[in-house]
Amino acid sequence: MRRVFALTLSLALGMGLGTAAHAQDLRYPIVPYPQQLVPMEGSFVITGSTRLVLPANTRLFSNEVAQLQSLVRQGIGTTLKTTASTTSGNVIVLKQDLSLAGEEDYTMTVSPKQLQISAKAPAGFFRAIATLRQLMPPAIEGRSTGSLRALNIPALQLNDHPVYSWRGMHLDVSRHFFSVSYLKKFIDLLALYKMNKLHLHLTDDQGWRIEIKKYPLLTEKGAWREFNNQDSVCMEKAKDNPDMEIDKEHIIQRDGKTLYGGFYTQAQMKDIIAYAAARHVEIIPEIDMPGHMMAAIRAYPFLTCDGKSGWGKDFSTPICPCNETTFRFAEDVFTEIAALFPSKYLHLGADEVEKTSWAASPACTEVMKANNLKSVEELQSYFVKRMERFFHSKGKVLIGWDEILEGGISPTAILMYWRAWVPDAPVKAARHGNQVIMTPGNPLYFDATPDRNSIGNVYHFEPVPKGLTAEEAKSIMGAQANIWTEYIPSEKRTDYMFMPRMTALAEVLWTHKKDYDNYLQRLNVQYARLDQLGVHYRLPDLDGFTEDNVFVDQGMLAVKAPLTGMTIRYTTDGSIPGMQSPVLPASLPITTPQTIRLAAFSPAGNRGDIYTLRYRQESYIKPVTTNPAKQGLQLDYFKGAFKTTTKIKATADSSMRVSNVIIPEGLGHGDAFGARLQGFVYVPETAIYSFFLTCDDGGRLYIGGKEVVNNDGWHAPLQKSGQIALEKGWHPLKVDFVEGGGGYTLKLEYSVNGGKLQPIQNSNLAL
Ligand code: ACM
Repeated sequence: MRRVFALTLSLALGMGLGTAAHAQDLRYPIVPYPQQLVPMEGSFVITGSTRLVLPANTRLFSNEVAQLQSLVRQGIGTTLKTTASTTSGNVIVLKQDLSLAGEEDYTMTVSPKQLQISAKAPAGFFRAIATLRQLMPPAIEGRSTGSLRALNIPALQLNDHPVYSWRGMHLDVSRHFFSVSYLKKFIDLLALYKMNKLHLHLTDDQGWRIEIKKYPLLTEKGAWREFNNQDSVCMEKAKDNPDMEIDKEHIIQRDGKTLYGGFYTQAQMKDIIAYAAARHVEIIPEIDMPGHMMAAIRAYPFLTCDGKSGWGKDFSTPICPCNETTFRFAEDVFTEIAALFPSKYLHLGADEVEKTSWAASPACTEVMKANNLKSVEELQSYFVKRMERFFHSKGKVLIGWDEILEGGISPTAILMYWRAWVPDAPVKAARHGNQVIMTPGNPLYFDATPDRNSIGNVYHFEPVPKGLTAEEAKSIMGAQANIWTEYIPSEKRTDYMFMPRMTALAEVLWTHKKDYDNYLQRLNVQYARLDQLGVHYRLPDLDGFTEDNVFVDQGMLAVKAPLTGMTIRYTTDGSIPGMQSPVLPASLPITTPQTIRLAAFSPAGNRGDIYTLRYRQESYIKPVTTNPAKQGLQLDYFKGAFKTTTKIKATADSSMRVSNVIIPEGLGHGDAFGARLQGFVYVPETAIYSFFLTCDDGGRLYIGGKEVVNNDGWHAPLQKSGQIALEKGWHPLKVDFVEGGGGYTLKLEYSVNGGKLQPIQNSNLAL
């Protein structure tokens, strides 16, 4: 997996440095940016003769000292000798400073003579070393050690500490499974960007992934399955994208069947936990129950109320909270989990429970009567609270998805908020005195396919929900991004889904001072390091075209490589561009209708998104002959769930006038619906117009009766684009939109002749 490529820091620093201010920042391309950084003149040079002064309490910090030595060795091929003197020249001084407030706090002073790091605790030293690592050239990450003679560290003074204590990533290892070595690579990336929690979703309907000694069938049977319909989707997509191929190491043959799966033995998990702990990343295990338990139920059918399992309307049959045998099983499992994972947190899941089998169960009728429970929601709460008492008996704190609010939440449970369509859940929980971890689907479900807006959406995410006082906001522990892997079948695809957008989350949670442009400049420097680390990150987006392109006489394709060192390669025969495909010239004339596929490539050969550009030859469309009179658009609203805009029903339930291509706030109240926006758009000059339609869920744009953008079907926010040749004047405009329930996004922007994206002015819309 690791690729060796010696890209020097000076090349990386050459990327798009426009101004002196940027040049200054890029002496310190640190992500997340430190709280306070004072630039200084000159630099400290680490060579084989640099000496190290250890902190007084050497044993306490031995792990961090070893990490520092290992970085230095990767760079210059030798570790540093220690000395007692802080005054002799060229020394790195590590000092314990008990006056610092937090365990992760640190200070660093770098001058041409000395590099001094102070921290109160090992975690602080570790965070400082992550900062120092990002000040070292990316070449230190390569496989070959000692390729550099010296490491130049730019002089500075910095004070740093995190704003949020929960800076998490989640990985679903159930739907698809990931090797121990991949988890270690994942943990390394968390540590590099100062993330400190790894939430492992270890069990679900599609696979049980952790050895439980008392119930061996959980992994003997529950860790293996035949390919399912999610795998089929991946296989279909793999035809066009090799990252979607299912990792072969998790496919076996057993009893004449091809099975997919795998699990971690407790010994392997101990090794992963120790690896993470050495990098100050805490692993939080989730054993999701009472729902999402089909893998366990297939192995132990006694767990359901009626011994049967299957799918209800939305979710799988849950385990039965009305039989003591269920509790015995759950407690046995969590006894082993509590002993295995040193974290004080245990995640019980408790999301998406199909409760119909409980409602039909005589045992549940009895339990509900005996405990004065009035609904199946209260029965779920009874299960969660009983499990929480058990967790407390093991000295552990319960975390649950936000459904644990329904039917009543105990004051000591931690709520993990995910349902964007229940915006008051974290507010209610915080006011109730519960601690809350924010993981709202948009923008923190990293299983949503990334597009050009994803990094910005994460960067602008605000962890404290609206409506909380400053005092109540203290209940927000931080946030976490989740990677659900139904459609993420490979390590490469996982890298692509979470990198680089995790770095935006890291800056939100650690620094929480936002300067997006500055962050993007620093991110650009990170790519060279990620190349060295063999990370299959998503490359920056390409500009200067739309997917569907129009030319009248002759078109011109001009696409700039996003970063120095990256190339753009293309094909015209429909095949996927590879490193052997021709490099796109600075401008390519288009004189015939055709399809061009192009992609950017990093110096290490990491391929960016594949863009398929269709070129159609058209004439300019004539405008309407009478000018529309009233400003705005008509919005027709259709109640109901329509999977695509073509399925929107014939008759609207209500209509209103709106100022632009928007859905007024509150319309639909989280339900599924369809909407049609109609009117006219004014274009001030005869030109080729590009339109960019961002939708969650689906939408289509029509101008002059022609479909310009097809962004249809239910999906997370996604931008699609198209072009049309328009003569100056008013043209009929229609946007059809469907929402499947939950939160929605609808945004229409345009650009002229490949210029800057802009919104349509209200005054240029009329009906
Ligand atoms: C979830 O996405 N079901 C927590």
